[in-house]
Amino acid sequence: MLVTNKELLDAAKAGVYAVGAFNVNNMEFVQAITTAAEELRSPVIIAVSEGAIKYAGFDYIVDLVRLAARERSIPLSLHLDHGRDMAVIDRCIGGGFTSVMIDGSHLPFEENIAVTREVVERAKPKGVSVEGELGRLAGIEDNISVEERDALLTDPVEAVEFVERTGVDSLAIAVGTSHGAYKFKGEPRLAFDRIEEIAGGISIPLVLHGASGVNQTHVALANEFGAKLAGTKGVPDDAVVRAVRLGICKVNIDTDMRIAFLAAVRQSLSEKPEGIDPRSYLGSGREAVAKVVRAKIKLFGSAGKG
Ligand code: G3H
Ligand code: 13P
Ligand code: ZN
Repeated sequence: MLVTNKELLDAAKAGVYAVGAFNVNNMEFVQAITTAAEELRSPVIIAVSEGAIKYAGFDYIVDLVRLAARERSIPLSLHLDHGRDMAVIDRCIGGGFTSVMIDGSHLPFEENIAVTREVVERAKPKGVSVEGELGRLAGIEDNISVEERDALLTDPVEAVEFVERTGVDSLAIAVGTSHGAYKFKGEPRLAFDRIEEIAGGISIPLVLHGASGVNQTHVALANEFGAKLAGTKGVPDDAVVRAVRLGICKVNIDTDMRIAFLAAVRQSLSEKPEGIDPRSYLGSGREAVAKVVRAKIKLFGSAGKG
């Protein structure tokens, strides 16, 4: 059943849990994520980036997710992740997405408000939810100054103004996480005080990007079979749980699935060098992704909520 992010996240906020937003680029990931979510009766957000649309093709990726939504009995949404191109955002709003993110986080405050408001005005009449972003996604390292820290993190006062003036349904905030497999040079550090302050000032659900844990067992397995991943570091599970308790209602995961998929495919290829059947190694990758998603759903507390 296809629903909006607003429906999923308002319920998550009321119930103090988070819904996972999992990135997809192909059929195996759509199947893995929705299978895991259905098994655990969890709502789920299928996140599609502009890069994913370019890779898979708009109609392919939309129809894959809509098919999954039809055959699964759990509520799921089709969400544009990090929308920046207005033409793509418009196509998503009119072409079956139930939610879009407008990422104006790289823009000055007033420009971010202007583009975000524009997207809200186009999306709301069509019943499509909108996620905005304020702040810079980057790690807060040990030697960072107070001024540098403040320049990166979402400002709680600005957040109130941003939400009021744009009318977004949810807000992605910067609190020390970043995208990819290399999130921290030193100890992982999230600005929990900042999450609490922002949550205290606004009533819409908050979103945590860059939340992958970068499981070192998966990294080691990928490396054992030929990958070269060194110095990877992610957000510890207990930090994610704490962030959810403080008001995070949507947690974005891509890197953890990428690494698990990579490790499984590499292992499968290496253990069957005589094999030529893509269903064998892609099937192993698909199962590895489903395993990651099951663990995340349990961590976020959304099991049984769908
Ligand atoms: O935050 C971005 C997601 O991990 C998607 O990445 O733009 O390479 O598709 P992508
Ligand atoms: P990770 O790179 O930590 O998985 O974050 C994904 C994300 O934020 C997608 O928008
Ligand atoms: Zn992101």
